[in-house]
Amino acid sequence: MDRARQYQDLKAEIDSVVAGETYVPARYASAACLLSEAFSPRFFWTGFYVVDPLKPQELVVGPYQGTLGCLRIPFGKGVCGTTAARGETILVPDVHAFPGHIACDSRTNSEIVVPVFDQTGALAAVLDVDSEQPDAFDEIDQLGLEAICRDLLTA
Ligand code: SME
Repeated sequence: MDRARQYQDLKAEIDSVVAGETYVPARYASAACLLSEAFSPRFFWTGFYVVDPLKPQELVVGPYQGTLGCLRIPFGKGVCGTTAARGETILVPDVHAFPGHIACDSRTNSEIVVPVFDQTGALAAVLDVDSEQPDAFDEIDQLGLEAICRDLLTA
């Protein structure tokens, strides 16, 4: 199956698993699990950093699959914090070339981070996917992950 089709099927599965679920962490956990399962081992770390309601300029780790992640990332720091500050996806083919990259696990070589917005349009979280492979992500991943994140809190 081609990857664009795989993302379509996965999105349908995630949408159906989380439909009607009001507890937001359950939505994040289900998406992290299904994405990680579908694309392991290319997806080495798959999970969410959520906006801390008590410190709105800081991300705190949420549900994830993978090795131990850093607990907190300020807006503007690393790939996750830069994505949160910009509100736009960042695809990084080589994390070692990204200024200020935060190496929670030194095995990571490339990553993609996608913003997640709530029903009001406010930034709620970012989805962080890291890979041991260099240049592991492309436009198909970006479009597939953005479609999943777009509806994750609203469907
Ligand atoms: N890669 C992230 C840090 C989070 S961890 O790798 C799980 C970043 O630079 O924002």
